[in-house]
Amino acid sequence: MQVLDGKALAQTIKEELKAEVDAIRQAGGKIPHLAAVLVGDDPASQVYVRNKVRSCEEVGFRSTLIRRPATITQEELLSVVEELNADPDVDGFIVQLPLPGHLDEEAINLAIHPRKDVDGFTPVNVGRMTLGLEAYLPATPNGIMVLLERYGIETSGKEVVVLGRSNIVGTPMTILLSRKSNPGNATVTLCHSRTKDLAEHCRRADILVAAIGIPEMVTADMVKEGAVIVDVGINRVEDASRKRGYRLAGDVNYDDVKGKVSAITPVPGGVGPMTIVSLMMNTLKASKVK
Ligand code: GUN
Repeated sequence: MQVLDGKALAQTIKEELKAEVDAIRQAGGKIPHLAAVLVGDDPASQVYVRNKVRSCEEVGFRSTLIRRPATITQEELLSVVEELNADPDVDGFIVQLPLPGHLDEEAINLAIHPRKDVDGFTPVNVGRMTLGLEAYLPATPNGIMVLLERYGIETSGKEVVVLGRSNIVGTPMTILLSRKSNPGNATVTLCHSRTKDLAEHCRRADILVAAIGIPEMVTADMVKEGAVIVDVGINRVEDASRKRGYRLAGDVNYDDVKGKVSAITPVPGGVGPMTIVSLMMNTLKASKVK
């Protein structure tokens, strides 16, 4: 069984990015600059944003963290977005999700200029991706594509089952894996909360991508012998024996399936770090747009 070590691969890619940024700096070019907007104090979001900012520093990007209280109004947040849209110094920015309940995520997303949308969440980028045009690809699905590519995992002609139809992971994953590309050319099934016989679908999968947010839902009886498992879940599960009072669990029961599968991404250290490098690849690309 092969562990698909996203953490190590992300480190390799960060070194490649750093070399490119060093070359840009020496040539007197524009240093990539990512801004991240964090609203409120959701503990998981704070960790994710901190990791994004820290990764930027590691490769020599500039980064700006914009923190706003959970009490911010929709209008105030929209004006933060407008300022970033207009700031020539900022190449790309993200608004970390989820936002507090009183804010309209869709309206905020629509306000982000597509050229600065390094998360790839705006309609223009989703549409361009779907049409196979040049686009900022959403970070998690693209990070998974890079992971599959660098590990040489064949997707062409394979049966892929994606669990979860979110706009930021499951749905774009099906588009990227089914299109005419490498990785790609897979036959993709998208399963969700209304799917009948979910386990039956999963058992047919050569590659199973789990992005449903239910801790350890996928068990050994649901996977095919020799399948490749991509676990996108990062769930906090109460665990009094841990210092923090919780442990991180994926959507897949790792210990249960590990004897049966051919390859699997661990949680943590699998998909998460790949998401971050994918965001940075988008930021570098944005900095090169004239
Ligand atoms: N929340 C969970 N994943 C993501 C992501 O990729 N981008 C943003 N902005 N928020 C998220």
